[in-house]
Amino acid sequence: MTDIDQLQQQLEGQSPRAILKEALSRYDNIAISFSGAEDVALIELAHKLTDKLQVFTLDTGRLHPETYEFVERVRKHYNIDIQVMFPDAAEVEDLVSRKGQFSFYEDGHSECCGIRKVNPLRRKLATVDAWITGQRKDQSPGTRNDVPVVQPDTAFSTEEKPLVKFNPLADWRSKDVWDYIRMTEAPYNKLHEKGFVSIGCQPCTRPVLPGQHEREGRWWWEEATQKECGLHADNLIARS
Ligand code: ADX
Ligand code: SF4
Repeated sequence: MTDIDQLQQQLEGQSPRAILKEALSRYDNIAISFSGAEDVALIELAHKLTDKLQVFTLDTGRLHPETYEFVERVRKHYNIDIQVMFPDAAEVEDLVSRKGQFSFYEDGHSECCGIRKVNPLRRKLATVDAWITGQRKDQSPGTRNDVPVVQPDTAFSTEEKPLVKFNPLADWRSKDVWDYIRMTEAPYNKLHEKGFVSIGCQPCTRPVLPGQHEREGRWWWEEATQKECGLHADNLIARS
């Protein structure tokens, strides 16, 4: 059994706060991956545990105005730096010049997500020893049911540099996140007031109707069971 398996056993069933506390005490060089949706809960919890919080967000260039406003509110509310990772300009220029601004509707989202999200994420993850995400089991039944609270990152580790991934909210349901946001009066993305639940890029996100699963608002034109954009490709690797 690896150290991380042992840690997973130790942390399974513990509160998000306890998991974050352990993560922050084990790793100095650890960062929260903040998507500007409801995972502000991670920042709310973590900023009370450390004054050396590292937070980054991936700005794909295609986010909603409300998401940009929200990121700025979070920056001010917690008085923290948020590192903004941009895609490589030449890669975006090449994609858009060849295929236009909406190629994902025609040939799937993986090429655009690869350039706008996954490559910048890889660049960031090469600089840390561990990262923290807001993934939850109930977020995507097809791919996230088995998300553990801590795992070796099989998608972004390299032979020279193993990477550990913490998912402190794995066992929280959407309602737990929202109860916590309301209780702490944490800022949230105003798009949530307009029926949006799971929020990604503007052209690839839409509100959901009552009773629809939150994931149905993402890449709705694609196969329902495989909705991962590559940030969490280890969820697909684990299942294949
Ligand atoms: S995605 O892979 O489908 O886009 P999702 O929106 O469910 O991910 O978010 C799951 C977690 O991935 C978030 O809690 C966050 O940690 C991370 N994440 C997603 N999008 C971003 C982003 N644009 N910037 C930084 N982290 C992100
Ligand atoms: Fe491109 Fe859509 Fe992926 Fe955003 S979610 S990077 S716009 S394919």
